[in-house]
Amino acid sequence: MLVILDFGSQYSELIARRIRETEVYSEVLSYRTTAEQLKQLNPQGIILSGGPNSVYDQGAPHCDPEIWNLGIPVLGVCYGMQLMVQQLGGQVERATRAEYGKASLLIDDPTDLLTNVEDGSTMWMSHGDSVTQMPAGFEVLAHTENTPSAAIADHQRKFYGVQFHPEVVHSIGGQALIRNFVYHICDCQPTWTTEAFIEEAVREVRAKVGDRRVLLALSGGVDSSTLAFLLNKAIGDKLTCMFIDQGFMRKGEPERLVKLFEEEFHIHVSYVNARDRFLAKVEGVTDPEVKRKRIGHEFIRVFEEESRRLGPFDYLAQGTLYPDVIESADTNVDPKTGERVAVKIKSHHNVGGLPKDLQFKLVEPLRKLFKDEVRKLGRSLGLPEEIVRRHPFPGPGLAIRILGEVTAEKLNILRDADYIVREEIRIRGMYHDFWQAFAVLLPVRSVGVMGDQRTYAYPIVLRCVSSEDGMTADWSRAPYDLLEAISNRIVNEVKGVNRVVYDITSKPPGTIEWE
Ligand code: XMP
Repeated sequence: MLVILDFGSQYSELIARRIRETEVYSEVLSYRTTAEQLKQLNPQGIILSGGPNSVYDQGAPHCDPEIWNLGIPVLGVCYGMQLMVQQLGGQVERATRAEYGKASLLIDDPTDLLTNVEDGSTMWMSHGDSVTQMPAGFEVLAHTENTPSAAIADHQRKFYGVQFHPEVVHSIGGQALIRNFVYHICDCQPTWTTEAFIEEAVREVRAKVGDRRVLLALSGGVDSSTLAFLLNKAIGDKLTCMFIDQGFMRKGEPERLVKLFEEEFHIHVSYVNARDRFLAKVEGVTDPEVKRKRIGHEFIRVFEEESRRLGPFDYLAQGTLYPDVIESADTNVDPKTGERVAVKIKSHHNVGGLPKDLQFKLVEPLRKLFKDEVRKLGRSLGLPEEIVRRHPFPGPGLAIRILGEVTAEKLNILRDADYIVREEIRIRGMYHDFWQAFAVLLPVRSVGVMGDQRTYAYPIVLRCVSSEDGMTADWSRAPYDLLEAISNRIVNEVKGVNRVVYDITSKPPGTIEWE
C-alpha cells in the first residue's frame, strides 16, 4: 500500500488513481498525518502531493519531520519536492522564471526513477518556486531548460523529488515514472485487482452482516447497480433492493430496470410506484432549490415508509465512493481574500443521499473505490455495458430539466423529446462521444408555422457536453446532421414543441443541468 499525503493539490486524487492503475492500493491522507500514524499503516511508500502554497508562505502546510526517519521511500511531487528539500536542509527560492505548462525533461541519470522515461519527454510543470540548493546526499536526475533540478534523488535513503506532475495525462512517461517508484523503489506487488477486491469485499460483507437483512435503494445508475451485484453475490436473498419510481425518470427506464434485474440478473426488486406523490409535491413549485428540496424530502419519506413495510432491516447498503471519504487537506488559499477554501466544491444533491440519522447501520463496500474502479468491478460482476457506461442522470431526474412548474403534460413532452435525442445518438453509435446528452423544456413559448398553421409552443433545449468528471464541461461540437435530425424529429413528433435550440455554454460559467 502507498500513502499520498495531500497538501491541497487538485491532483492528489489523480495520483492515487495512477498508482491504483499499477494494481497497487493507495490512499490519500491529510498532510497532518503523523509519522506515528503512518508507522501503524505501514505503507511501502509515501508520496507528498503538490499544493497551492509556497513552502515559505506563512502557515504553509508542513509534514511531520519524523517522516524522514521512518525508513520508507518518499516521492515528493512539486510542492512535495520543495518541502522535502526544505525540511532536509536544502534551499527553495522563487524561480527567476516561473514554469507553467509543458516542458522537455532532459535526463541526466536514466536509471532508477527515470528508467524507461525517454530523454526529452514532455512533462507538465506548474511552479513558481525552484530548488536552489539541494540537501546533503541528493543529486540531480533530470533538468529542464528553466529548472536545473527537475528530478532529484537521494538513492541511499530512497527519497525522490520531481518538480513536474507525472500524474497528469500531458506528462508523457509520467506513468512509467510512477511504476518505477511503485515497483522498483517501493518494492510493491500487484495485488490491487478486481478479482482480489471482490473476494475480500464478499468475505468482509459476509462477516459483518451474517444472516441479517440488508436494504439497498437502487437508482439504476452504475454505483447502486454494482453494489446490488456485489451484495447479491455475498449474501443472496438477505438483500432487498428497493426501487422508488418518483415519476421523473426517462421514458421506459423504470420498466427496463426492473425487467433487467428481475429477468436477466435474477435479483428481486421491490418496485415502489410513487409517481403521484412526487408530482403532487412539486405542483406549483417554480424555484429550482425548493423543487430539489421537496423531491429530496419526499424521497426520504417514501423510503422510510417502504423500508418499514418491507422490513425490519439491520443494515442499509450505500454506494459511497472513495472521493466522498478522502480526508482532504483543505489547504487551498483564496488569492483574493487569503482565506482557506475547500479543495473542491462539490454539489451534493443526490436524491439517493439519505440522512445520517436513519436507524440503520451502514454497509459501504465501495468506499475504497474510484468511479472508474466501480465500472471495472461492475463489468467483472457481469453488469451489462448499458448500465456500466450509462450517462450520469441526476437524482431529481427530469423534474430539474423542466424549468419552472413540473406538470404531467410537460413530463410527457420532455420524455418524448428526450427519447428522440437518445435514439438519434444511439443509431449513429455516438452515445459514448458525450458525457451527457439530453433535452430541457423551457417554460416560455414562441411562434412558429407548420403547414399553413401558426403555432405557439414550447422550445426544447438540446444540451450535449463533454467532461471528465462533471466538475467542468465543454459544450459538444455535435455534427450538424445529428442536430438536424433531432430538431426535425422533435418538432414533427412531439406535440407542444415547435422549436429546438442548442446550448453552447461551457461549465463554468454554466452548469450542466439547467436547474
Ligand atoms: P451541474 O448541473 O451541477 O451537474 O453542472 C454536474 C453533474 O452532476 C449531475 N447532477 C446530479 N446528480 N443528483 C445527482 O445524482 C443531483 O441532484 C444532481 N444534479 C446534477 C449532473 O447531471 C452532472 O452530471
